[in-house]
Amino acid sequence: MLEHSLVFAILPPRAMKSDIAIVGTGSLGSALALSLRRAGYPIVTLISRGSASSLRRAGRLARRVGARVSSIRAPILSARIFWLCVPDQDISSCAEMLAAAGNWKGKVALHASGALASSELRALKTRRAAVASAHPLMTFVADAKPLPTGVPFALEGDVAAVRAARQIVRDLGGHPFLIGKAEKPAYHAWGAFTSPLLVATLATAEQVALRAGIGRKLARRRMRPIVRQTIHNYFEKGPAEAFSGPLIRGDAATVEKHLKSLQQVPHARRVYRALAEAALNNLPAKNRKDLRKVLEKYS
Ligand SMILES: NC(=O)c1ccc[n+]([C@@H]2O[C@H](COP(=O)([O-])OP(=O)(O)OC[C@H]3O[C@@H](n4cnc5c(N)ncnc54)[C@H](OP(=O)(O)O)[C@@H]3O)[C@@H](O)[C@H]2O)c1
Repeated sequence: MLEHSLVFAILPPRAMKSDIAIVGTGSLGSALALSLRRAGYPIVTLISRGSASSLRRAGRLARRVGARVSSIRAPILSARIFWLCVPDQDISSCAEMLAAAGNWKGKVALHASGALASSELRALKTRRAAVASAHPLMTFVADAKPLPTGVPFALEGDVAAVRAARQIVRDLGGHPFLIGKAEKPAYHAWGAFTSPLLVATLATAEQVALRAGIGRKLARRRMRPIVRQTIHNYFEKGPAEAFSGPLIRGDAATVEKHLKSLQQVPHARRVYRALAEAALNNLPAKNRKDLRKVLEKYS
């Protein structure tokens, strides 16, 4: 019995997880609120923009996570940790509104931007909060599902805030890692290639399918096996081993046929050329000289 109470004196029980407030209940804020709740964090407040529609949306999420809703114009500041999940351009103004609303000593403020540094939260730091940026390298869309496990989170900022964020990320089943302030824009550009620009490439492919007389929906269905296999090969074997097609074979005549057929879809042709150039720079290809000539001809 004595041993049992000693353990409780040394280890903080689950109930001691810090109270959290989420500011902004859009794609990321909703997923984070659900995941944090599931991980045992009390979500005490969801702070919304304050318009009727915004309050309604926040209210629906609040019922799922057992939180109260307040407006950014009169925010409830009882939580110890605040995670700002508002669009990048609104982070500093939200920080200013929150800073003006009360005492921040001993609190931690995080924002979720991949491109911006923790200095966006300077208004809160001035009021003595510890601040950091904590960005999940994951895509969130408007379906309010909890995060999967294994998500990497890039952290940067004050020691106390990074320490708090690291613990939260681990509790969410994620992988925290440090990033430099100056590296954040390049880090986020990398992230753009991994999801939104990948989707943009596939959306461009759909438009090319239309030129071949295949409607978008059918194209998506027919693309599924090859796209899945390609992604699988890339992660299992690496880029060079996953690369196939006319460029690796050095087949300049086929590449020229592609470029000719894309005359009616000029933006798809520009995307094709840019990606083919990237392939010639980074991936194995035969007959590079002729391939480059063809790409040049259709520039
Ligand atoms: N989505 C992703 O895949 C993803 C991934 C990693 C990081 N992030 C980062 O997460 C942040 C949010 O992105 P998101 O995609 O979740 O955006 P989003 O879906 O547009 O959601 C933004 C939310 O912020 C609210 N908001 C805007 N201004 C506000 C204010 N002044 N006070 C309170 N709430 C305000 C919006 O309210 P309304 O509902 O009233 O418009 C909305 O609920 C960004 O920094 C982004 O870089 C996003």
